[in-house]
This record gives sequence, structure tokens and C-alpha cells, in this order.
Amino acid sequence: MANKLVEVKNLSVGFEKNQNLTQAFSNLSFDIYENEIVCLVGESGSGKSVTAKAIMQLLQVPPAKYIGGEIIFNGKDLLKLSEKELEKIRGKQMAMVFQDALSALNPVYTIGTQMVDVIRLHANKKITRKEALEQAKELLHLVNIRNVDEVVKQYPFQLSGGMRQRLMIAMALSSKPQLLLADEPTTALDVTVQARILKLIRDLKEQFSMTVLFITHDLGVVYEMADRVMVLKEGELVEEGRKDDIFTHPKHPYTKKLLNSMPRIYFQEDS
Ligand SMILES: Nc1ncnc2c1ncn2[C@@H]1O[C@H](COP(=O)(O)OP(=O)(O)OP(=O)(O)O)[C@@H](O)[C@H]1O
Ligand SMILES: [Mg+2]
Repeated sequence: MANKLVEVKNLSVGFEKNQNLTQAFSNLSFDIYENEIVCLVGESGSGKSVTAKAIMQLLQVPPAKYIGGEIIFNGKDLLKLSEKELEKIRGKQMAMVFQDALSALNPVYTIGTQMVDVIRLHANKKITRKEALEQAKELLHLVNIRNVDEVVKQYPFQLSGGMRQRLMIAMALSSKPQLLLADEPTTALDVTVQARILKLIRDLKEQFSMTVLFITHDLGVVYEMADRVMVLKEGELVEEGRKDDIFTHPKHPYTKKLLNSMPRIYFQEDS
């Protein structure tokens, strides 16, 4: 068995509003192993994004509240680290790609400027803007963006949805993170663009020996991506296992329900 990169132990997170605390989930426990793609699947509101943001330590406290538990990453409990220590990890050892790339980008700066800033921020040694721009162009090549010299001069709104999502992936990869958290990165895209981005993430995962937590509500995407699957329902992990086991022998009624709502095409290869 591979090493554990992340261990979430009995994690409870809630949100405070008008002195009322509602729990997003309680006592959530799971592991992420080095070099796997693990898919976290569940319907809207089940707690997928909160889980990823908790691992990234991106939840805003308050209103969010860590009620209890541990998030061990590379042997360190992230909940015990200072903001300064977290900054050394966030964006460097772990990076996140969000569902909505447009809102994650700054509308008033060019792609080149934004990439240069991120690359310089995460660089181990001081590098010039010119050096960072060269790295930015290499990263854009890596995610199969062709006309890089033009793209770096453009603004986010000038790119297509698929291009923006590639750009987000390129920026997340700029620090060669061990862990990539991808929160529904292809939901807003049409099917052919989605297929290309999924393949890109799989290829890059191999190339960089990354570990990926991939969040989706789409079991078709899970089938394309996952080594392992975790099924979340109302903040509770109701089932987890190897992809093939989950798809052929689901145990929990909720997993069965999710599978039954899927087009049969995904099962045909196995039967
Ligand atoms: N900032 C917040 N303030 C209050 N409650 C929140 C906040 N963010 C999330 N929640 C609550 O936490 C629960 C889990 O939300 P989360 O965003 O993780 O769901 P999700 O599984 O990612 O859903 P979706 O598929 O729609 O993205 C929901 O009940 C949501 O209302
Ligand atoms: Mg979400």
C-alpha cells in the first residue's frame, strides 16, 4: 500500500450564523494515498467543497469553525500550524483548481502578469519577472495552450472557458504541488472540452507524480478519473473503495441510487 499523504481524522466543521452553529459535517475521516486520483462524489450541499477548502485551509474563520479533528498532511496537523507555516504549504505543496475559473482570476490584469506574480511568489529563490514569464509560457505549453505569446497579453474575459480552466491548472502546477485539489474543474465546460481537460489532469498527474483529490457530482467523470472513490452524503462518508468495486458492487443504497441514475453506457465495458 502506498503512503498516506493526507489523513483526515474525525474532522468536524460548522458554520456560525447569529450565534447558531450548523455542522457541515462531523467526524469525517478518510485518507488520501500518494500518487492516486481519489474522487469525492456526492450531491450538491453534501460537503465536498468544504472538505477541499478545509484541507487547503481556505475556509474563512468565522463564519467557518473547526470544531474538532485533525488534518495531517506530510505528517503535520494543518490545524495546528500558523498562517505563516500554512503559506509555505498552500499553493506550494498543495494547490487547488476551482469550478469557476473566471472568478478565481483577477479581471484587470493580463494572464502574463497574474502568472508571473504567482510563479515569483512560489519560487524557491528570487527570480526576475522576465524569468518568471518564460516559466509561465512553458506552463501554458504544458497545458496545451498553443499561441502562448498572445495569451500572456490577454485578459481573463478574452479566453474561452476551456482555456481559462487550462490556465488555472497551469497556475496550480507552477509550484509542482504534491497534492492537487480539483473542485469540479470541468462542470462549466462542454463535453468535448471536459474530456480533454480530464485527460490533461491524468497526464500531468503521471508526469509530475502528483496526488489528486478530484471533486465531482458526475459519476461519468468519476469513471474516467478515479483510482478510488469516496461517496459523501449530507456530510457523511457512506462508502469508499476502488473504482471497479464501487461501480460493480456498490454496497450503500445511496451509491446504488447514484449509479442507477447514470447512463448504462459506463457499465458495458465491464460486463
Ligand atoms: N460560507 C458558508 N456559510 C455557511 N454555510 C456554508 C458555507 N459554505 C458552505 N456551507 C454549507 O456547508 C454545506 C456543504 O457545502 P459545500 O459547499 O461543501 O457543498 P458541495 O458538496 O460542494 O455542493 P456543490 O455540489 O453544490 O458544490 C452546505 O450545507 C452549505 O450550505
Ligand atoms: Mg462544491
